Amino acid sequence: MKYSFIEKVLFPPTYINDRKLRSELYGKTIIITGASSGIGEQLAFLLGNLNCHLILVARRHEKLLELQEQIQTAKVDIFPADLRNPAERKDFLTFIHETHEKIDIFVNNAGLSIKRSIFDSLDRFHDFERTMAINYFAPVDMLLTIIPFLENSKGQIINVSTINTLLIPFPRFAAYQASKQAFDTWLQSAIPELNDKGIRTTSIYLPLVRTPMIKPTASYEKMPAMSAHHAAKVISKTMYTRRRQFKPWYIGSGQLASVLFRGVWERVGKKLLQKR
Ligand SMILES: NC(=O)c1ccc[n+]([C@@H]2O[C@H](COP(=O)([O-])OP(=O)(O)OC[C@H]3O[C@@H](n4cnc5c(N)ncnc54)[C@H](OP(=O)(O)O)[C@@H]3O)[C@@H](O)[C@H]2O)c1
Repeated sequence: MKYSFIEKVLFPPTYINDRKLRSELYGKTIIITGASSGIGEQLAFLLGNLNCHLILVARRHEKLLELQEQIQTAKVDIFPADLRNPAERKDFLTFIHETHEKIDIFVNNAGLSIKRSIFDSLDRFHDFERTMAINYFAPVDMLLTIIPFLENSKGQIINVSTINTLLIPFPRFAAYQASKQAFDTWLQSAIPELNDKGIRTTSIYLPLVRTPMIKPTASYEKMPAMSAHHAAKVISKTMYTRRRQFKPWYIGSGQLASVLFRGVWERVGKKLLQKR
C-alpha cells in the first residue's frame, strides 16, 4: 500500500532488525487471535518467515487453512473458533493444554468494531453484548488459562488496542470503544502483578488501519490510515524490544487536547452531528 504525503508524516517507517527478531523468536510459540484477516493475517505472514511456532485462531477455517498452506518456514497450528462463544473458547484452551507444552507470546488481536448511533441502537442491546464478548470477555477468559504458561516461559502479552482508548470517546462508537477500553483497563490493572512474575506486557495503540474492519465506513476511505503490514511490523518489533507501549508520535498532543479542549470538542462535535 502506497502512503500519501500526510500518511508518510503520520506513520514514519518502522525498521525491523531482522537478526534480533529471528534470534528472539527462535523456537518460540506465539498465539495470534484474529489471524484470518487484516492486521493478524499480516502478522502471521511476517512471523511465518521465522523459525517459530504459530497458533492461529479465528472463525473462518478456510482462511486459516490458506495461511497454513502459504506459510513455509514457521510451524503453524490453526484452530477455527468463535471466541465469543464460551464453549468454543473452552475447546481452544483445551487444545492448547493438550498439545502445547509452552506458550511464549499471546497476541490479543481478534476484534469487532461497530459504528452505530445510540438512537439506532435502542433495540440493539446485542451490539453491546457482542463487542464485549469478543473485545473484553474473550481475551480475559483466554488469559486466565494462558497466564500460567506465560509465567513459566517469562513470556509476553501483546494487546492490539486503539488510540481511541487514549482520547475523548467518539460519538457513534460507544459499543466498540467501551469494550476496547474495558480490556485496556483490565490489562493496565494486571500489569504490575504480571511484570512481578516476569511476564512482559505491550499495549499497541493503533491509529486507523486500512483493513476490512474499516471498510463499512465510507468516510474512512479518504482518511489517512496505516497499512496492515505496517501495523504488523510495529507489533513484531515489540517482540524483541519488549517495549511496554506503542503510540503514534502525535498522540501526546491529542491526549493533551482531549483534556484541555473537552468542552470545545463537545460543542463542535454536537454541531458536526447536527450538520450530518
Ligand atoms: N482497523 C483499524 O482501524 C484498527 C485500529 C485500531 C485497532 N484495531 C484493532 O486491531 C485488531 C484487528 O483488527 P483488523 O483491523 O485487522 O480487523 P479485521 O480485518 O476485521 O480482523 C479482525 C480479526 O478478528 C477475528 N474475529 C472477529 N470476531 C471473532 C470471533 N468472534 N472469534 C474469533 N475471531 C474473531 C476475525 O476473524 P474471523 O472473521 O475469521 O473470525 C479477523 O481475523 C482489532 O482488535 C481492532 O480493534 C483496528
